[in-house]
Amino acid sequence: MLHDAVVTGTGAYTPDKILTNADFERIVDTSDEWITTRTGIKRRHVVEPGMATSEMCTRATRQALAEAGLEAIDLDFILIGTVTPDLPLPSTAALLQERIGAHNAGICDIAAACAGFIYGLATARAFVAVGQYRNMLVIGAETLTSITNYKDRNTCVLFGDGAGAAVVSRGGKGGKILSTCLMGDGRQWQDLQIPKGGSLVPLESGDLENGSRYIHMNGNEVYKHAVRGMTDSAERALADAGITPDQIDLFIPHQANLRIIDAVGKRLGLGDDRVLKNIEEYGNTSAASVPIGLSEARSSGRIREGNVVLLSAFGAGFCWGSAVLQF
Ligand code: ACO
Repeated sequence: MLHDAVVTGTGAYTPDKILTNADFERIVDTSDEWITTRTGIKRRHVVEPGMATSEMCTRATRQALAEAGLEAIDLDFILIGTVTPDLPLPSTAALLQERIGAHNAGICDIAAACAGFIYGLATARAFVAVGQYRNMLVIGAETLTSITNYKDRNTCVLFGDGAGAAVVSRGGKGGKILSTCLMGDGRQWQDLQIPKGGSLVPLESGDLENGSRYIHMNGNEVYKHAVRGMTDSAERALADAGITPDQIDLFIPHQANLRIIDAVGKRLGLGDDRVLKNIEEYGNTSAASVPIGLSEARSSGRIREGNVVLLSAFGAGFCWGSAVLQF
């Protein structure tokens, strides 16, 4: 027998420090007008020196656990979707576990870029459904400012920092995960990558200055495939759940670009009132953007009991996916 996997608590954290478009006008050759019309971004929340991904995870987790009515010791597993771990080794999940005292939990990170939270949610659902675990913590968290090249106007205006968390439990009150869909296409890994600093091309002296340890992106390719991938995986997840687009109360897409969000919403036939958009405030926070949106929508009362919520994300790999929840 399969068990219901239910999102019983959510939480989010974004740093207080804000970088505005006016700040970027002083850093690179850009304008508020260009950034706003091309991306929809006005502000991004960014960490102060000394704050890393695990600290933001800790704050988001405390809120999610409180909402779920659980203690850290009740967690059976911690999964963190991140491409900006505190350290190359060990996982950020290990650092979070130590910080919150979740000593009964298995721990690992997921490297699925912007789709990391959805990949984590699908994994948690499977473990809970087969009865292996009772309470899993799934996080999407990024300190993207640590891999952003502030000399490259093509990318630096896009990214912010933040974390979002969800507790996935066997049964309980919250959002039952009705379906998930995970997809990938490694043929286009080169379109969104950090060229150096891994085992293929290690860092050399001078790499701090030449930008090769930062995100490089073929924006147009990412854009095109993001629209297609998010729409396609959303349609598959909806079909699997037996839900039609008119039954969706809220769509929470990855916040990469307002034009991508609008294009996907339009393809799915969803009006603006059913699409969550907070990119103006946070920019692209990669794996954190969907769980931040989910937590904010719950806290603000935008998600009510009975609501059907669609989540979708697309990122480096390329990899992408969607999930359907019923609250
Ligand atoms: N300010 C002013 N001009 C700029 C800026 C800037 N910040 N950035 C680029 N430009 C210029 C370019 O140099 C180019 O000038 P040129 O025509 O003289 O060469 C011009 O603007 C147009 O550039 P495009 O790349 O065609 O602009 P586009 O409208 O495609 O927007 C963008 C670029 C915003 C990056 C878009 O392609 C996009 O959003 N792509 C998807 C990004 C995404 O989804 N990323 C998610 C993954 S991130 C992750 O996984 C961590």
